[in-house]
Amino acid sequence: MLCEITGYDAMSLQPNAGSQGEYAGLLAIEAYHESRGEGHRNICLIPSSAHGTNPASAQLCNMRVVVVKCDSEGNVDIDDLRAKADECSENLAALMVTYPSTHGVFEEAIQEICDVIHGHGGQVYIDGANLNAMVGVCQPGKFGGDVSHLNLHKTFCIPHGGGGPGVGPIGVGKHLEPFLPGHYTNKESSAVGAVASAAWGSASILPITWMYIKMMGAEGLKDATEVAILNGNYIAKQLSDAYPVLYTGRNDLVAHECIIDLRPIKDGCGVSVDDVAKRLIDYGFHAPTMSFPVSGTLMIEPTESESKAEIDRFINAMLMIRKEIAEVESGTVSVEDNVLSNAPHTAEVLTADEWEKPYSRTQAAYPLPALKTSKYWAPVGRVDNAYGDKNLQCSCLPISSYE
Ligand SMILES: Cc1ncc(COP(=O)(O)O)c(C=O)c1O
Repeated sequence: MLCEITGYDAMSLQPNAGSQGEYAGLLAIEAYHESRGEGHRNICLIPSSAHGTNPASAQLCNMRVVVVKCDSEGNVDIDDLRAKADECSENLAALMVTYPSTHGVFEEAIQEICDVIHGHGGQVYIDGANLNAMVGVCQPGKFGGDVSHLNLHKTFCIPHGGGGPGVGPIGVGKHLEPFLPGHYTNKESSAVGAVASAAWGSASILPITWMYIKMMGAEGLKDATEVAILNGNYIAKQLSDAYPVLYTGRNDLVAHECIIDLRPIKDGCGVSVDDVAKRLIDYGFHAPTMSFPVSGTLMIEPTESESKAEIDRFINAMLMIRKEIAEVESGTVSVEDNVLSNAPHTAEVLTADEWEKPYSRTQAAYPLPALKTSKYWAPVGRVDNAYGDKNLQCSCLPISSYE
């Protein structure tokens, strides 16, 4: 079923994360070049918009990463791609490109991009983590990819977050099939070793995806893709007057996610992307992806699974936060001491007998009326992220207490 969806000829269910799929896919590419007497090909081109796991996987496979620029619209800069591919033609192993890109746009030149790489004897790795903008609409195996990983924990219903479980199968074209991950229990094992201890992937997790695909059916899956794209565009349009959307494609549309730019706000009045992320907790939201792939921005990927009511709740929170920012911009409230800089407001702070903030408890706790009937009470206040990253704190009991 995954082959049919992606347009690839073969699939390995062994990798247990998208990043592990990248590793397995690059191993297949290396083994393929090796089999053709071109084992010297070791350069991997990666656009600057790529997810961090792409260059990390290439490094793990001993490939040399060469970064390709993106243009002002967030697309791969074709001239730079051509120049870099020319430069390293002899040693070009692969391009890793994400479609639709992490900049939230459908890369219109994707076929041309793949052709350039193939023209130099390289293989194209299409990072398929954003497949929920493609299922039923287009197939990476048909528009130029030689190999892709899919994040089943994104597109195919396996719960995402909290450290797993993930599944990152790879699909490949016929020519790469002999180089899919092997296993000692399989007599026809491939030239490439195993990337996980279970030969056929996780027997306890994969039935979730199997059932999801069966129950959704072809029409249902296509519908989910369309809803994911619609939701991304709905958020982009509703928020664009308040926050600039960094990249859009043709007709001012995004793919299934959008990046909103908070850098002009930070430059103008000092309110940062962190302040907005922390204030969202008071409104009952975990912030969307922050400062990736562009620092100082929020990347919002609603997916197909949120209801319109939930998406509207998020939009209302972001619009209200914009009004709170406007008060800092106009000088009505101080930049150091305001509802944003003090967020999140914990249950303890909000219920303490003393209250010395320059705004009311109501403003802090219930900035929107709907919060009065459904409120998340933050248990922990703001921490100094950078300090926390640099100073490991162990909160478990010392070993001596077990004696
Ligand atoms: C574009 C892209 N590539 C790769 C990955 C890596 O997937 P995983 O976190 O399962 O290793 C992600 C994860 O979010 C992603 O968004």
